[in-house]
Amino acid sequence: MRLVMIGAGYVGLVSGACFADFGHDVVCVDLVEEKIAALKAGKIPIFEPGLDQIVQSNAAAGRLHFTTDLAGSVADADVVFIAVGTPSRRGDGHADLSYVYGAAREIARSVRGFTVVVTKSTVPVGTGDEVERIIREENPEADIAVVSNPEFLREGAAITDFKRPDRIVIGTEEPRAIQVMRQVYRPLYLNESPLLFCERRTSELIKYAGNAFLAMKITFINEIADLCEKVGADVQKVAKGIGLDKRIGDKFLHAGPGFGGSCFPKDTLALVKTAQDAESPMRLIEATVAVNDNRKRAMARKVIAACGGEVRGKTVAILGLTFKPNTDDMRESPAISIIQVLQDKGARVTAYDPEGVEAARGMLSGVEFGGSAYEIAEGADAIVLVTEWDEFRALDLDRLKALMAAPVLVDLRNVYPPQEVVRHGFSYSGVGRAGPAEG
Ligand code: UDX
Repeated sequence: MRLVMIGAGYVGLVSGACFADFGHDVVCVDLVEEKIAALKAGKIPIFEPGLDQIVQSNAAAGRLHFTTDLAGSVADADVVFIAVGTPSRRGDGHADLSYVYGAAREIARSVRGFTVVVTKSTVPVGTGDEVERIIREENPEADIAVVSNPEFLREGAAITDFKRPDRIVIGTEEPRAIQVMRQVYRPLYLNESPLLFCERRTSELIKYAGNAFLAMKITFINEIADLCEKVGADVQKVAKGIGLDKRIGDKFLHAGPGFGGSCFPKDTLALVKTAQDAESPMRLIEATVAVNDNRKRAMARKVIAACGGEVRGKTVAILGLTFKPNTDDMRESPAISIIQVLQDKGARVTAYDPEGVEAARGMLSGVEFGGSAYEIAEGADAIVLVTEWDEFRALDLDRLKALMAAPVLVDLRNVYPPQEVVRHGFSYSGVGRAGPAEG
């Protein structure tokens, strides 16, 4: 089948490369010329484990192409995926759909023969209706079906998530489109990944409801973590204790500095707005957004407390800047707010991240970046583990202690057993683990 992916960002590039790997003929279109030129030269603009290899092999096999020519590609396509960005609109939190609607207009001008237009971008309920209206208005002759097919992949595990999804959601009731989408996903169907067909609006809402539920689950365990600290309980064991209940499940119960990234913050906000507009407010998600926002600053206060209540003139070393490991994505990363508060309170901040430093340079000022955990720990009054990269899981604590001005470890991801850290002469604060232990 001939597939076109409009938007060579995270979702577009991963989906396009994986579809090509399934044997489809895929053209990825993006209007940013430098991005397309780089991709043609085999350079991947994002850090995603395994993506470079899959892009290179499929490009070499002639199944994956890159272009800025939207009109030419769409004319020959069986299926056109819209995978452009839907950032939060400035000021109000609604999803900005101008890229989606712009793509719809351009598709309308170029389609030939029956073409399925699929929104893969995360779009609010009713966007598919508007995409269809735009295309029909622009080109009344167009023989199209507009389908919703949200993507659930996680950064850092995107290839596996795409190839082994828990489910594939397809929102359309048009029989021809159902046939085509079955063909598109046939390789996964053979893997027994369930295909869920439903109405287009239902499919659009499934994506938001899924992300909001996960964000709420994280926020729930984070509030339990706060309570654990107050009452002398251990959130790791609470999470395990409740997670063993199959109705709850053990995933997404890891307490930490709050969720970040390109999806949860934006999608929870957009769902809140959609719900308000529909006069069906979602108080749980409103609270999730507010609690998560406060949490990032609360983490900075935890660091200040670990430093004896004052960071003015002190050096704080930050381990990990990206919103999670195995990505170079800094969007909405808790590290940003934590660092800003610490700087406002007069701290000198050093930082290291295996992949995120380049992006972080553009977002943070006054931070001194180093090339390793040990380099940034030199002379530090505290070291704060913000992102749980594998290389931070087995640090040489004796070496760290020898380098630091004061042996203080704040472990915002509960990576280290407190007793072990204390044995090495550190004072330790984790998240949701009763009171900081003294070294
Ligand atoms: C998320 C969804 O998982 C994915 O299905 C959707 O398509 C896009 O949004 P992603 O943002 O890549 O994916 O990362 P995810 O692994 O879900 O983590 C999101 C945030 O939650 C990170 O900041 C992470 O650190 C945090 N998190 C996650 C926790 O704090 N605790 C957990 O238990 C899980």
